[in-house]
Amino acid sequence: MKHDTVLVLDFGSPDAQKIAKNLRLNHFYTEVLPYTAKDVDSRKPKALILSDGSRSDLLPDLSIWDLGIPILAIGKTAESICKQLHIPPNYSEGELAPASKEPTLFCLHELDFDLIQDFIHRCKLQPTWTPEAFIHESIDQVQKQVKSDTVILGLSGGVDSSVVAALLHKAIGDKLIPIFVDNGCMRYEEAKRVKEYFACMPELDIRFVDASELFYSKLKGVEDPEKKRKIIGGTFIDVFEAEAAKYPDARWLAQGTIYSDVIESIGADGKSTQVKSHHNVGGLPETMKLSLMEPIRNLFKDEVRRVGLSLGLPSELIDRHPFPGPGLAVRILGEVNPQRVHTLQLVDEIFIRELRAWDLYHSTWQAFAVLLPLRSTGVRDGKRTYESVCALRAVNSEDAMSASVTRLPYEFLEHVSSLIIKEVRQVNRVVFDISSKPPATIEWE
Ligand code: XMP
Repeated sequence: MKHDTVLVLDFGSPDAQKIAKNLRLNHFYTEVLPYTAKDVDSRKPKALILSDGSRSDLLPDLSIWDLGIPILAIGKTAESICKQLHIPPNYSEGELAPASKEPTLFCLHELDFDLIQDFIHRCKLQPTWTPEAFIHESIDQVQKQVKSDTVILGLSGGVDSSVVAALLHKAIGDKLIPIFVDNGCMRYEEAKRVKEYFACMPELDIRFVDASELFYSKLKGVEDPEKKRKIIGGTFIDVFEAEAAKYPDARWLAQGTIYSDVIESIGADGKSTQVKSHHNVGGLPETMKLSLMEPIRNLFKDEVRRVGLSLGLPSELIDRHPFPGPGLAVRILGEVNPQRVHTLQLVDEIFIRELRAWDLYHSTWQAFAVLLPLRSTGVRDGKRTYESVCALRAVNSEDAMSASVTRLPYEFLEHVSSLIIKEVRQVNRVVFDISSKPPATIEWE
């Protein structure tokens, strides 16, 4: 089905993504392009929205006026457009009105989702964008693209790659080879948990590769965080390539790239940005000669979740907090070795288990434990101890670019701290991180 498309031109603020998410939630297919975009007409939009933002004084390509479609300009961008067209900016707060002399132009004083909905209704668009429609169309597209080839997928246990697995399995069945590589820095009993999550799809044959020994041997004695990242990224590629080579008829590599990655790596100016480059741990070399398949690259995270639920994946998997590619290695300060990983896994597991038990897991965007390269004194069973310190972190965020501390109840923190020290002998002190991002980052590294 061809969906009626709304295009949002990003003039340099998070508003563009917010508008797109809101419209998609209301089933209107919406894309975000940089304000410098020259190929607006190739998307055949039925409506155009010019967001407010730091680049509002810079004007979009004039060809947008030849499209003959309704255009909504917001905030400072609306002012600039009126100036460009020599029409008075006579729109007022809380009102959506066509600009005088220019019936296809509407202006808004500021971002207002209700008024944006009014605009969309005036455009008479069809709300056809639903998870079910997406699944149906993607299956069709993947089947046409893949024919009888085999597709390899790196399955991490995170939401994105899991949804890709479920979607591709529905499309091509056992022509999908999902590979789960245990790098020794995963969460507690992660492989077992992934098996449980996918118990609803027993026909999905996940290949589990335990490469933890190899990762530990390479990480031995390494303390520098960047070096750890490089080692883990490089070793992951080696292991994955060796596994993929077992399937000589494989022609495709599926990845869980999502729409925010696509937009944020372009930026409002249309130039590529580096913000997220260090996160692409799974980036595989071109020598693999596999063609890339990114079936969810058009979806925002919330849409990925809705598609996952609609495909029958369990909500505990779909609602999981984000987890970094290099895993616990960025949460173990100092050397990563099996003992320290095990300690952190136990601590993290208690923290997460208790967050769920206290019904707090969803009141925070991301929560985890960090193992510090410090020891402190304590008392256990009447004897002095000299053991590790761990930190707990819980943050609220929308896009991970900034984050504030989640104000977990004191009773809960005290309870978890006691439980951790009681159950994990290697830890005798627990602290709670109250730093915002910026200036701190979310992970400690
Ligand atoms: P920072 O520490 O940069 O983290 O504030 C921002 C968010 O990104 C996650 N993160 C990663 N995610 N691969 C990922 O897929 C990575 O290498 C990586 N490093 C950090 C982090 O958990 C937080 O949600």
